[in-house]
Amino acid sequence: PLRAVAAMAAQDPATLDELNRIIAASEPLVPGATRAVLGEGPMSPRLAFVGEQPGDQEDLQGRCFVGPAGQLLDQALGEAGIERSQAYLTNAVKHFKFVQQGKRRLHQSPTTGEIKHYRWWLKKELGFVQPGFVVAMGGSAATALVGEVVQVMKHRGPAKFEGGQRGYIMPHPSYLLRLPDPAAKARAYAEFVEDLRRIRDLAA
Ligand code: URA
Repeated sequence: PLRAVAAMAAQDPATLDELNRIIAASEPLVPGATRAVLGEGPMSPRLAFVGEQPGDQEDLQGRCFVGPAGQLLDQALGEAGIERSQAYLTNAVKHFKFVQQGKRRLHQSPTTGEIKHYRWWLKKELGFVQPGFVVAMGGSAATALVGEVVQVMKHRGPAKFEGGQRGYIMPHPSYLLRLPDPAAKARAYAEFVEDLRRIRDLAA
């Protein structure tokens, strides 16, 4: 993987399209994925959202945030008055990492090393996209954007990312999906929407 990253850096893409072609043609740096899932959205948006990695559905469909976590995010964005189509969405890691269990592919978190390998692409990508405000959803995105391991619940709120980029750290929507207790889930969802409302105001 290290050699792969060095080879990619040597290609030094001049545009987002060029970068995306390199990413799409790359071997997964994490085991298992069928394809790279690229970021999508307008250039120079007010807001960019960075997730962890594509999930099962994203890997199959080739688009980010289309599975259960993406649907929950869509609902929360709607409640917070943020238009998804106006924002840029991407992931810290561009390939799905999983273990096969029977017919199911179970999500595996990327290691800090894997996040670091993919970081070069994310930095280039955001450099081309030029968002005004960047949202890290979950620990992997926050770690990629800050440049060191970040605990989301401790640092939840407005943040300055590497290079002075204005942004915000918040939990990942799949964290809500994993909460078993309905009351805890409802509370966490309300806080999640509240994060997004703050983000909408900060990015305005
Ligand atoms: N979770 C993510 O972090 N990204 C996606 O694209 C889907 C689920």
